[in-house]
Amino acid sequence: MKFKKKIGVDLGTDTTQVYLGGNGVVFSEPSIAAFNNRTNRVVAYGAEAKRMFSRTPAHITVSRPITNGVIADFDIAKEMIQRFLKHERIPWSWSTRMVVSVPTNLTEVERKSVEDLLKEAGANEVYLVEQPLAAALGSQLDIHQPTAYLVLDIGAGTTDMAVISMNGIVVSRRLKVAGDYLNGEIMKAVREELKLNVGEPTAEEIKIAVGSAIPQNEKLEVMVRGRDVTSGLPREATIKDTMVRGWLHRPLKLIVEGVKDLIEAAPPVR
Ligand SMILES: Nc1ncnc2c1ncn2[C@@H]1O[C@H](COP(=O)(O)OP(=O)(O)OP(=O)(O)O)[C@@H](O)[C@H]1O
Ligand SMILES: [Mg+2]
Repeated sequence: MKFKKKIGVDLGTDTTQVYLGGNGVVFSEPSIAAFNNRTNRVVAYGAEAKRMFSRTPAHITVSRPITNGVIADFDIAKEMIQRFLKHERIPWSWSTRMVVSVPTNLTEVERKSVEDLLKEAGANEVYLVEQPLAAALGSQLDIHQPTAYLVLDIGAGTTDMAVISMNGIVVSRRLKVAGDYLNGEIMKAVREELKLNVGEPTAEEIKIAVGSAIPQNEKLEVMVRGRDVTSGLPREATIKDTMVRGWLHRPLKLIVEGVKDLIEAAPPVR
């Protein structure tokens, strides 16, 4: 029906994405809101709010209302999603059916909270689908087969992994070791080894520019600016791929161990 709109929503810790039936992903913005404590109003959303991180006056708080797939601040999350859904690439309609991806193992209260949030943000019908299933379907895996598929989704807040077979999740695990955690490890190592304080956006820049789990063909390096730990003065440092691989080794090993545990927990094939 023309006036019935079907959309898919992924409320990520880092990014909110909206999929419109027949059009693909029409919206992708950081899941960030800037809140004015004096007026109790949200003043910026998405990319605009992200740019305000660490550059705000005391009465503005920049936050991520969704953390690790769970709604941390309902009112701010609602305002943010309402604003996102008004985006010009998402057409208005009488009725909106939303499919929302949620992490595995959410409690009933947490699931209800996601459902309420989207209903209050304008959905008439809300369906929750577990993220590994959504990832498998989106990757065109033939999940109704009696074959086992292992899906690993390393997000910002959580790493979700699951063994999927015959349209269902056989076993799943969630680790809080994901992109944000890797940024934290980089910040810590730069401070301890190079005596330089850098913010999370810089740590993320380092990870994306030169980070890798295994050696690459080309040697990479990136120049970053931070504040000297002792003097507090601005200073530059060159970060090499070999250093970052060393810093990321422990957290990446935790993810690998998680995958091994998951495989061990899966029932054997008969
Ligand atoms: N090229 C890259 N190399 C390494 N990490 C990257 C790269 N590009 C993005 N990332 C990281 O991926 C993470 C964002 O992934 P994604 O958008 O899947 O998360 P999310 O769905 O918002 O979070 P979650 O699923 O945990 O709620 C961020 O931590 C970001 O730094
Ligand atoms: Mg995600």
